[in-house]
Order: sequence, then C-alpha cells, then structure tokens
Amino acid sequence: MSVLDRFRLDGKVAVVTGASAGLGVAFAKALAEAGADVALGARRVERLEDTKAVVEAAGRKAVAVRADVAEPADCQALVDAALAAFGRVDVLVNNAGVGTAYPATRETPEQFRQVIDVNLNGCYWMAQACGRVMKPGSSIINISSVLGLTTAGLPQAAYSASKAGLIGLTRDLAQQWGARRGIRVNALAPGFFASEMTDQYKPGYLEAQIPRVLLGRSGDPEELAAALIFLASDAGSYTTGQVLTVDGGFTAT
Ligand SMILES: NC(=O)c1ccc[n+]([C@@H]2O[C@H](COP(=O)([O-])OP(=O)(O)OC[C@H]3O[C@@H](n4cnc5c(N)ncnc54)[C@H](OP(=O)(O)O)[C@@H]3O)[C@@H](O)[C@H]2O)c1
Repeated sequence: MSVLDRFRLDGKVAVVTGASAGLGVAFAKALAEAGADVALGARRVERLEDTKAVVEAAGRKAVAVRADVAEPADCQALVDAALAAFGRVDVLVNNAGVGTAYPATRETPEQFRQVIDVNLNGCYWMAQACGRVMKPGSSIINISSVLGLTTAGLPQAAYSASKAGLIGLTRDLAQQWGARRGIRVNALAPGFFASEMTDQYKPGYLEAQIPRVLLGRSGDPEELAAALIFLASDAGSYTTGQVLTVDGGFTAT
C-alpha cells in the first residue's frame, strides 16, 4: 500500500455530527472524497439535505438524520440510522458544538450547562453509541478547540471547560478502547476557521487575535479536514489519545 493509499476510506462509513453548517460540511465532504459513505446529524435537518448533496456530488452515499446530541436517544438513533443505511460505522466525527461568551459573574447555570451538554456530554453519548458497534480499526475524532488548551481574550468558561474536558474524555476512551477494542480516539484542536460560529465574533475580535497566529491568517476548513482524514484513516493507525492542534501556530505563541 502506498502512503497516499493509507489516507483512503473506501468502503468505510463515517458519522458526522453538526453536519448542517460550517466545519461539519467540510468534514463530510472530505470524508466522501476519501471514499466514505456518511451519516449526517444535526438539528436543522433541511440544512443536512444540502450537505447530503455535497457528499453525493463526491460520488458517495449519505443519510441525513435530525439529532440533538444533548439527547442520548437522538445519538443512538443517529448511529442506528447509519447502521440501517450502511451496515457499519468506522469513523465518528464528534463535531457538533455551540460557542457562548458570558462573564463568569453573570453566567446562569442554564447557560453553562447547555454548552457542556452539547460540547462535552453530547460527544460522550455519540462515542458510547458508536463504540458499542465499532470494529477494530475504527477511529473517533473529537473536535475540541485551542480554547481547550489556552485562552483567547473572551469570557468563555463554559466553552473552554467543555473543550478541555473533551481532551480528557479523548484520553480515557483511547485507554479503554485501544488494545482491547482496536478503536483509536483522538482530538482535533482547531484555531480560527470561518464559520457561523466565528461570524458571531464582535467586529475587531478576530483581527486582534491574528497577531498571535504564526501564519498570520485564519485557516481554511479544507486545511482542517486534511488533518481529520489523517486521524480517520489508516494513515493515523498508530496515533491515539492525542490532540492534533491545527491553528496556524496560535498555541505556539
Ligand atoms: N470555527 C472555528 O474556528 C472553530 C475553532 C475551534 C473549534 N471549533 C469547533 O468546531 C465545531 C464546529 O464548529 P463550527 O465553527 O463549524 O460552528 P457552526 O458553524 O456554528 O456549526 C455548528 C454545528 O453544530 C451543530 N449543533 C449545534 N448544537 C447542536 C446540537 N445540540 N445537536 C446537534 N448538532 C448541533 C449545528 O447544527 P444545528 O444548529 O443544525 O443543530 C451546526 O451544524 C464545534 O465543535 C466548534 O466548537 C470551531
């Protein structure tokens, strides 16, 4: 097998949460281009139909499922739909996430809990549902953030805690399912990539952060998706329990 063949996902099945917008669309497209069929989950099912068309344009099959990852039953239903459509699950991309910014003195319990429920707990419910049916050689990628590793000026206790917690979850599942189950579990920690989430930044925020980025610019989602395919495929077959930071050098400063 040539080194580039190791990145192929022909005959594999991937599940992507948060596939209705932003990075989730880029991940679904890249997985399809690498050869995988894709089960797409999010709450806005009409938007998932657009992502389904992107996967199909790459020559692969897709199934779109309404799923709120904060609900364990929805997570199970998404995995069940993937199994019903394609018969297996090889790759899970835990991408669904919400970002908020509230000063800690004013953040309500509900505001804090909602972020943890989606960004951290939702990843666990998805990993449990997939881990129960995944065969050796499978791969789980948790989309963390540089905010799980450092700070970036905004009051983001809930978001940062959720993304740092996700790194701990990644390590523990990698330990539980490595030698015993042959399932690799890694985290991807993106820096700044244009999406609906980053559209919410106040004017000037991103510009103020760019001097900390060694490459001097935001990332293109395709640059992140390339790293995802490394972790998802046999190219990453000896990589587990790790955080792969793709941030243009932001956390090096
Ligand atoms: N963009 C960046 O610069 C950046 C940097 C670091 C980390 N990240 C992480 O990357 C991931 C994707 O972010 P993005 O920038 O692409 O954000 P985005 O454009 O806001 O997309 C977020 C996605 O998550 C889905 N989602 C939100 N809550 C959900 C829920 N309860 N159940 C299921 N799906 C849910 C949304 O779909 P519905 O609304 O249709 O449910 C949407 O598809 C997130 O985990 C984010 O924290 C992004």
